[in-house]
Amino acid sequence: MTISLHSPLDMHIHFREGDMMRLVAPLSAGPFAGGVIMPNLVPPVDNIARLEAYRAELDEAIAGESFEPYMTLFFRNYSEAELAAAKDKILGIKLYPAGVTTNSEDGVRALEEAAPTLSLMEEMGIPLMVHGETDGFVMDRERDFISTYDLLARRHPKLRITMEHITTRDAVEFLDRYPNVFATVTLQHLVITLDDVAGGLLNPHLFCKPIAKRPEDREALLHAALSAHPKLMFGSDSAPHPRNRKESAGCAAGVFTAPLALPRLAMLFEQHDALGNLQAFVSGNAQAIYGVRPPAKTVELEKSPFEVPSSYGDVVPMYAGQTLDWSIRSIA
Ligand code: NCD
Ligand code: ZN
Repeated sequence: MTISLHSPLDMHIHFREGDMMRLVAPLSAGPFAGGVIMPNLVPPVDNIARLEAYRAELDEAIAGESFEPYMTLFFRNYSEAELAAAKDKILGIKLYPAGVTTNSEDGVRALEEAAPTLSLMEEMGIPLMVHGETDGFVMDRERDFISTYDLLARRHPKLRITMEHITTRDAVEFLDRYPNVFATVTLQHLVITLDDVAGGLLNPHLFCKPIAKRPEDREALLHAALSAHPKLMFGSDSAPHPRNRKESAGCAAGVFTAPLALPRLAMLFEQHDALGNLQAFVSGNAQAIYGVRPPAKTVELEKSPFEVPSSYGDVVPMYAGQTLDWSIRSIA
């Protein structure tokens, strides 16, 4: 059995910088035709000079690959002139509430302060991507943030808002409440629950933000993905950390999935008899939502075993050392 995917997109990726970028960026740029590059570097990508330097570094790391990096800026209060200068170089601006995840210390502290820039973005047609968690109890952070999404969507009805890496049934239900609200979902949140992270021996390689939730949350996410809900896009949130930052006290949040995401998604969609919807989930929906036209690339996947490496350099992937039922046969 095989399936051909046309220009698959990963709408949420962390490439980092330097050696880490040179290691991981090609692992996405091979199988994917494009992706949304997150700006949570140290310091964050929050000005044009930094954005251009980051883009140049990335172009060098993926030279020769047919891959369109959709860049993002880290949300802060930007002037109209800054937004005008950035508009053609970015797909959107990513808002992090301060302190909720890796390198988000410079994020937004009070939503009221963000309003002027949000209004400018709305007028100028610049999409907003959001890490939607409060600083409350870890299992409730996303659900508690829904009221903030509600405010944002109502106050800025023309602002395109993407709820990044949703993990709950509440978020899936919220998707249908406003026409200007969209979402990404990761691979791990379609296949694991908190039990896989911490129900037995602790698995640091499955620890990420937002944390995986309850079985009913996974079911709702899975149903939305398998049915290719038109407002839902695949975004791996592939987030590499060196092994010693994961297998340690004070484990960093992030699951590394880029190189195995497409085979594992094919396996998942086949198991649920939904392979026909995979193209929309990994590309068509994102193209329609953002109006992007990625480079042509055909990835042929086949039902034959793929042994996931135990590590890529110093980064341990999800399913390290395990065998998946599907593999990539060719990329053209
Ligand atoms: C991401 C990272 O490592 O940059 N970590 C994660 O657990 N998802 C940040 C993020 O997207 O929250
Ligand atoms: Zn992320």
